[in-house]
Parts: sequence; C-alpha cells; structure tokens
Amino acid sequence: MASRPRIKLLALCGSQGRDPLLLDMIEHAFEGARESGEVDTRVVELSDKRLRHCVQCEECMSRRKRRDGTIREELQDCTIKDDLQAIHTGMVEADGIIWASPAHALGVSTKLRIVVDRSRWLVHQGNMRWKAASALSVAAEPMTGQETVLRQMGTMIRALQMTQVGPGYGAGGAYSAPDDPRTRESAREVGRAMAEASRFLKAGREVLTQEARSRIVEGYHRLHSSMPDHSDFVPSEGQAIKVLGISGAHRKGSRNTVHMLHTALEAARQLGGVETELISLRDLRLDVDHTCDECLATGLARCNNQDDMQELYPKLMAADAIIFGSPVHELGISGRLKGFVDRCRWMQRDGTLKGKIASAVTVAYLTIGGQETSIAEISDFIRAFQMYQTGFMFGGQGVSGPAVGGHTPWNEDGRTRLTPVENDPWGMMTSRFTGRMVAELALVVKAGHAVVSSAVVT
Ligand SMILES: Cc1cc2nc3c(=O)[nH]c(=O)nc-3n(C[C@H](O)[C@H](O)[C@H](O)COP(=O)(O)O)c2cc1C
Repeated sequence: MASRPRIKLLALCGSQGRDPLLLDMIEHAFEGARESGEVDTRVVELSDKRLRHCVQCEECMSRRKRRDGTIREELQDCTIKDDLQAIHTGMVEADGIIWASPAHALGVSTKLRIVVDRSRWLVHQGNMRWKAASALSVAAEPMTGQETVLRQMGTMIRALQMTQVGPGYGAGGAYSAPDDPRTRESAREVGRAMAEASRFLKAGREVLTQEARSRIVEGYHRLHSSMPDHSDFVPSEGQAIKVLGISGAHRKGSRNTVHMLHTALEAARQLGGVETELISLRDLRLDVDHTCDECLATGLARCNNQDDMQELYPKLMAADAIIFGSPVHELGISGRLKGFVDRCRWMQRDGTLKGKIASAVTVAYLTIGGQETSIAEISDFIRAFQMYQTGFMFGGQGVSGPAVGGHTPWNEDGRTRLTPVENDPWGMMTSRFTGRMVAELALVVKAGHAVVSSAVVT
C-alpha cells in the first residue's frame, strides 16, 4: 500500500524583532501538522534578513528583444540580489507555507509584504500555484489587528495563486498571553489543516499526468482571448466533480450575478467531467428572521428550520466546489447571501464543508464600487467554513464593475447609464478564470484525496 506523501512545511516569520510568541505559535502549528504523518518543517525568520523593496523594473514580467533580434524570456529571478533568493528557493521547495505576522499598525509586517511583492516572478511562472497556505498573527491585546492581519494575509496568499486553507473560526490569531491554551490550540488547528491540505494538493499534483498539468498551465495564458480547448484533458472515471454556483442576487431573472456565475460554471464544464448547478437564492423561501441556536444547543447535525434550505443542504454537502456570487450592496455582500451563510452555521460547527473548494464572483454598479471588499467578506466565511479558496488570477475572483460599461455612471441628461455585465470583457474573463480555477483545484484535491485516504500513515 502506498504511504502518505511526506510533506515540507515552511513558516515565514515576519516579525521584525524577535517575537517569541509568534515563534512559539509556529512551533505549535508544526506540532499540529505532525499529528497526521511525516512533515519536514522549517522556519525562516525575516528579522535578520536583508530585504529591499521591489522597484518595479518589470524584468521578471517581460520578454525583451536582444540586439540580435532574438527574444530573451522573462527572468526566472528577481534582479535585486539580497537575502530573498534563498527565501524563494525555500518557497519553491515547500508544499505548504505558513505566513506568520505580528500586527503592525493593524496590518502585516513590512518585511512580509516585501517578500510577497518581490515574488511576482514566482507567481508569473506558476511556481506557487496550488500550494497550500495559511496564516498566523499575533498582537499585543485581544482584537488589536489579528483579524485584519489574517484577512490581509489571505489576500496576499491568493495573490500568490496559492490555495488558502481555511483553518476555521478564529484560528490563527493570538495575543500576548503566552500560556493561553486557546492560542496553542488555534495554532495547532492551522498546522493540522495545512498538513492535510498540503498532502491532498501534493498527491493530486503527482497523480495528474505531466501532460495534463502543463496543459492546465498553458491554458491560463490562452484564456485572455478565448477559452482553450481542453478536450484531451478528461478526468478519469470517478474523478468527476460537482461545482455549485450560489447567487445571492435579489433581482429577478438572469441579471449580472447570475450571468457571471453561468459564465464561470460554463468555463468549469469545459474542463470535462464537471457537473454544475446554479442556485439562485432568490427563487427559494429562506427564513432568515430568527436565530434559534437549537443546532448548537442540541448538537443537531442539521438546521431544524423547515424551509427551502433543507433542499439546499444535501446539494452543498455533495458539491466538491462552491462559487459564491453576490451583487455589491453598500460595499458588501447582499443580505440574501449573508442570510444563507448564517443558516449554514451548523455546517460550520460540524466542519461539513471542510476541504471543499471555494471562490467568488461579485458585481457592482461602479468600477470601484466595493467588489474587493465583498470578495474579502466572502473570503472570511470561506475561511470560517474551513474550505480551500482558489488563488487570484488576473483580477482575481470574478469581479465586474460593468454597469457603466467604461463610461461615467450618468448620461449627459443626468440619467443613470446601466450596461449589463456581458458587455464587460474584464468581468467575463475573470468569471471564466474563476470557474476554471475552481474546477481544476477541485480535480487536484479530489485526486489527492483518493491517494491520501488509501495510504498508510508512516
Ligand atoms: C441595496 C443596493 C446597494 C448597492 N450598493 C452598491 C455599492 O455599494 N456599490 C456599487 O457600485 N453598486 C451598488 N449597487 C448596485 C449593484 O451592485 C449593481 O447594480 C449590480 O450589478 C446588481 O447585480 P444583479 O444584476 O445581480 O442584481 C447596489 C444595489 C442595491 C440594490
């Protein structure tokens, strides 16, 4: 019988002095990771590293014509030579990376930010894609930046195209009370989740043939203009995956959110072996008016409220991946999507959605109308549900500010000018990317799952 893959976890400690609590948390996270099998662990402390800021020379991103007319490929390195090269080597070798940061002015440390900024070439060349990542943060007092750091770190993880592993509610944050058992447990949770996800992702990547993998990577470069034909990349039997799209839009009929989800699901299906279903919460009768807490009080593995959510729960459980879609309402997600999320509370408690793949699409009236804040909001509950969130690609999760179609929001006569989302090429492209990335990651994780669950623990 095959053994579980041995994995390498790297922790990047962004403390700029020497922070014993953060280092302690990293150790607890590693202990949690070791509970499920063999793990090689390594901590890199950034405090004594010489790191310069990215100067946006773009050398790593652009091909150059040489004097002799030949093309020089993008650099596989950063032009600035300092301690980053060794850090990058560690990042490439790792199966999973724990990003640990103290809260500095409610944000991540500058040195950690520099590492992310200077990793553009790594991302551009696909080196980070699908690797697992999660975060730890520490601040002096309770609620003084831990959550904002975890959220920022999550965005940075997705910007690196890594898979954000949701360790669950509140996990990963700590304050300066070194012997607090919750701090230790929360760090262990991160380590456990990271070890599990890193194994699935590593095994999945190995199972997929080289040919399939290179076609996936190549496919992204071609997605700019049209969807690639992946007809020869057909998942083998038993690998078929189900992707669910959930629309939190209020408006009747196929409006913007629903259109983006349709586009994402269509792109997912083009991978082959992918079943999709789009659910519009608008068509369901959902009671979001009261909180009975019965599921918590009685330990029920379901919600007792008998409305249309009862039909939705089995669909959520059967899905391999879920794309959440919301129009932007007052810089955040719609009340309808929030009401639905709240009704999934028992699933959060039970870890029912743990390890499923997730992503998001959002659409607003304005070009900068709250799409990113809404994505961040969705990412928070994805993390709380312990799901795995896909990385960011060309604008990230599907985002659109199409309503003005590249014009000012008003006509000369002062009337508002609305353009449907299908007229926004950026929104359509990012929706397609979202669907593709979700389907591919689901496939990798499912393939890895099969290997890992049939393997013995060494
Ligand atoms: C209550 C409400 C609040 C809104 N808030 C914003 C906003 O903060 N920023 C923005 O750009 N658009 C905002 N909009 C516009 C919608 O995001 C936009 O029209 C979107 O395309 C609707 O998506 P749908 O077609 O899926 O319903 C708001 C719309 C409503 C109804």
